[in-house]
Amino acid sequence: MGGADDNITDSASKGSCVTISSTNVVAELIDVLSPEQVTTDPSMLASYGQDWTRFASPAPTAIVFPRSSTEIAAIVHHARNRKLALVPSGGRTGLSGGAVAANGEVVVSLDKMNTVSDVNLIDRTITVGAGAITQQIQEAASAAGLFYPVDFASSGSSQIGGNIATNAGGINVIRYGMTREWVAGLTVVTGAGDIIELNKGLVKNNTGLDFRHLFIGSEGILGFIVEATLKLCAPPKDPIVMVLGLSDMSAIMAVLERIQSATPLLAYEFFSELAVTKVVEHAGVARPFATVTPFYALIEFERNDEQTEVDVFEAVENCMERGWVKDAVMSQSVAQARALWRLREDISETLTQWTPYKNDISSTVSKVPILLASVDAVVHERYPDWEVVWYGHIGDGNLHLNILKPENLDIAEFKARCNTVSIDIFEAIQTLGGSVSAEHGVGTLKAPYLAYTKSESEIAAMRAVKAIFDPDGVLNPGKVFTTP
Ligand code: MLT
Ligand code: ZN
Repeated sequence: MGGADDNITDSASKGSCVTISSTNVVAELIDVLSPEQVTTDPSMLASYGQDWTRFASPAPTAIVFPRSSTEIAAIVHHARNRKLALVPSGGRTGLSGGAVAANGEVVVSLDKMNTVSDVNLIDRTITVGAGAITQQIQEAASAAGLFYPVDFASSGSSQIGGNIATNAGGINVIRYGMTREWVAGLTVVTGAGDIIELNKGLVKNNTGLDFRHLFIGSEGILGFIVEATLKLCAPPKDPIVMVLGLSDMSAIMAVLERIQSATPLLAYEFFSELAVTKVVEHAGVARPFATVTPFYALIEFERNDEQTEVDVFEAVENCMERGWVKDAVMSQSVAQARALWRLREDISETLTQWTPYKNDISSTVSKVPILLASVDAVVHERYPDWEVVWYGHIGDGNLHLNILKPENLDIAEFKARCNTVSIDIFEAIQTLGGSVSAEHGVGTLKAPYLAYTKSESEIAAMRAVKAIFDPDGVLNPGKVFTTP
């Protein structure tokens, strides 16, 4: 155990000037749990103190590894008594700083609460601990002949508790919706230290307010998600992937409309030529075809029968005749489908080496062409020399705009410059009634910009709800809301 004997000001009690020795904090946590469940190992502090954003320096006081809801409740009661700030922590694959601990907080890792039950074939559900890895759940469902449809590039390391806390979206939302649609029941430990079961896996339960939906997407500011019962469904039949080379941005929605009228889609994703260049050069992914186009769409659909393929072919041919699509490729095997998906799924990880400034924005699907045009105009005017990579879940109205940090620019300066431009982008979003965070959450990065999407009265109501479930403000301070 490391344990520097510094005095720390606990961040949960901002303004009350309580100082506690970090050695005391650690000793007390060991009393609440056990020595094996508390660490101050510097490399662990560094890794558990941050998520996939790289804008804040991790500086937690300790990391704790509870094994049960009762232990989490004991930690919360202790934190309330000692006014300690707690940061709930899953796979830390988030992109908005929601799991960052940069101010002496205690990180509460759900790693040890990772049980995966047998699939209940009658209810078509699976019950999992918050620390279960998303991919493990997908595999367990698949072994039982069923399907957990929420999927994204980080499913191999993200934990279900984090998925639920951020209402994770991903690549199949156009067909299956977001995580919210798949949660049948939740057990949570609130910031008051109460253990509550929400909805208990029921299909029908009209007994007033459904707090399950308050906790989904709450980013750890109301309580800890400790267990979930997830709905499962039948797997898609024989999915086929196509990549289309698009003439320009304005073709994206026209092509979506045309193809959707031929068949229901499992996915409709887009990415720019710069995104392709980066994954081809840095992730060793093959180009879809020799033709280079400014944008690409990746579509996935089920081969219900031979007619589906014919209908989609006709739709694509029609898009080619109109000049919207310049080239196209269709997967002929599962391996080819996977290879085509890598063009889209490898983008995010490939870009991490440039510490990208991410905007994850949305509008209604029909307003996407205006959103794209107005944001693209701002970006071109303000970043003529910077590399800007576009991709996203365009079929959900969700764009990911990644600005790559120039090598010679200091990270703080880069972030400050991007923040100024974000204001112009957020004003455009506000005019369109869109969102400043489509799927990544608010965390610390988008907290200053919440008012571009939510009204003052909504934000006041959100703060009031937090005060009910977290009366002493011990949970994830500084996330979602800027401190008052
Ligand atoms: C994605 O769609 O690839 C993820 O949301 C991650 C990202 O935006 O980088
Ligand atoms: Zn995404």
